Amino acid sequence: MRGCETVYGGPGAGHIESMAILKIARMGHPVLSRPAMPVPDPTAPGIAGLIEDMIDTLKDADGAGLAAPQVHVPLRLVLFRVPPGRETAEEKPDEDSDSVQVAALESPTVLINPVIEPIGEHMVEDLEACLSLPGLAGIVPRHNHIRYRWTDTEGRNHECEAQGFHARVVQHECDHLDGILYPMRMTDLSTLTFTSELGRPEPAES
Ligand code: NI
Repeated sequence: MRGCETVYGGPGAGHIESMAILKIARMGHPVLSRPAMPVPDPTAPGIAGLIEDMIDTLKDADGAGLAAPQVHVPLRLVLFRVPPGRETAEEKPDEDSDSVQVAALESPTVLINPVIEPIGEHMVEDLEACLSLPGLAGIVPRHNHIRYRWTDTEGRNHECEAQGFHARVVQHECDHLDGILYPMRMTDLSTLTFTSELGRPEPAES
């Protein structure tokens, strides 16, 4: 992954970075409501370039996750990061690889062709937001505990279990691959709010 690589490398030129901030589709754009297609070759150079640009875009937007359809690319690819202190994942040992890190967490984790399987029935509610619905947030029920599988950029397959925020962000991002935005998962639309109104005190009388 590039990220810190410089275009005009060499001492003294480290501040010149190749960066592309992609335009983020907003709710209502058809690319967000269509199922995305599987990535045919996760090792393709075009996929590596897309991931670099998505990481730049995610960091620029200061988001927790980003799915390819949000940048107008209808492929099954997402990336996410879990803030320190909110990580709970443990990757299962995989004989094919011993060097993958899933949940270490400031730099985004990339999932290609991910598949989610809920573990148990326990649902939890928490506030959720999305870069495709800027300025809004709402309470969304999600599975507390999931298992997910994916392919990395070297074509290796992985499997991981996650709970809490980590499980939530993976479910949110993977929903984008099926044309689902978080309001479609909400059970109480009265909790949909502008984030700028969060924390405003309740009126004393109704
Ligand atoms: Ni989103």
